[in-house]
Amino acid sequence: SFTSSSSIASSSRRPPLAFAFDIDGVLKAGPRVLPQALSALRMLHGDNPYKSQIPYILVTNGGGVSEEDRAARLSKELQHPIQPHQVLQAHTVLQSLTKLYGDKPILVIGGPDKPPGGVRGIMNEYGFNDVYTAHDLHHSFPASWPFTRASPDQVRSNLPDLSSVHFSAIIVFHDSRDWGRDIQLMVDILRSRDGVFGTESSPAELKKREQIPLYFSHGDLLWGNDFPVVRFGQGAFRVAFSNVWQKTTGLPLEYTVFGKPEKLTFEYAAEMLREMCGGQDPAKVYMVGDNPESDIRGGRDFGWETALVSKTGVYREAQGEPKYRPSFVVDDVEVAVREAIEREM
Ligand code: G3P
Ligand code: MG
Repeated sequence: SFTSSSSIASSSRRPPLAFAFDIDGVLKAGPRVLPQALSALRMLHGDNPYKSQIPYILVTNGGGVSEEDRAARLSKELQHPIQPHQVLQAHTVLQSLTKLYGDKPILVIGGPDKPPGGVRGIMNEYGFNDVYTAHDLHHSFPASWPFTRASPDQVRSNLPDLSSVHFSAIIVFHDSRDWGRDIQLMVDILRSRDGVFGTESSPAELKKREQIPLYFSHGDLLWGNDFPVVRFGQGAFRVAFSNVWQKTTGLPLEYTVFGKPEKLTFEYAAEMLREMCGGQDPAKVYMVGDNPESDIRGGRDFGWETALVSKTGVYREAQGEPKYRPSFVVDDVEVAVREAIEREM
């Protein structure tokens, strides 16, 4: 056991145990907070045999809001204070790209566009200073996707003439709200001459030159909410996009994916825990997740212990052995926390 100091960072001992929790399917089901999440957090905040504060962070492939807004909302929902530095969303790590694109025009796809707090605002706060969304393109060129209209309140203020902007990258920030339109506009940019929307490279040119860089904030094919059947995630959008790209150009799609199970995301998570623990790595970290492909695979690859919940999220025991084996399978997050405390403290 370790001290019951309320400030984990002030304790000089290396914490024996810390947690990284997935959100969707572990703490929440859609908008609904799972009751097991509340009891799990009570244990972490001192309601355990050692009366200890146990450090934890939340690592989600979800997103669409700023870390500040997410933390404030989660504090209310989970009835415990959650700080922004405890929240790692799929797009949080995009900040590592500002050194490449901070001052270059980029096309950002997905997430809510509407201010305040829309995707443009969040990307600006991260340090991207020249952000355009699919709405900006659609609004400037209505014939580019004639089936719907971009609403003017989602368009960038002082929008320049986009026919002279050279896009340097496409970043899929979060789930596309309009797959058809977004796939069309993304193919257009990747096929363009020098990143100028409305121009087209010849097949020979396309083959010769490097593709405009494309980033996805996470790769989950499926995720679980409060609908009885699992839902398509950003990974499904990527599969669709990739197929249309290949059929259109005959070329394989090049891209980078962030989020769980990628190493960069886990490195970021480990650094967050280290900072919470006064610069020391906890002796053991447990990743509690519902998705074997992202939570369990990523946690295992990173050398963490993993607990897979089997009653509240994507994975159900009826599917058979999970593709990536966790340290243990439990019904829900409450049991995961109790078992980890029993094992490690
Ligand atoms: O879109 C997938 C995402 O919502 C999954 O979130 O918390 O289960 O990683 P999470
Ligand atoms: Mg999940």
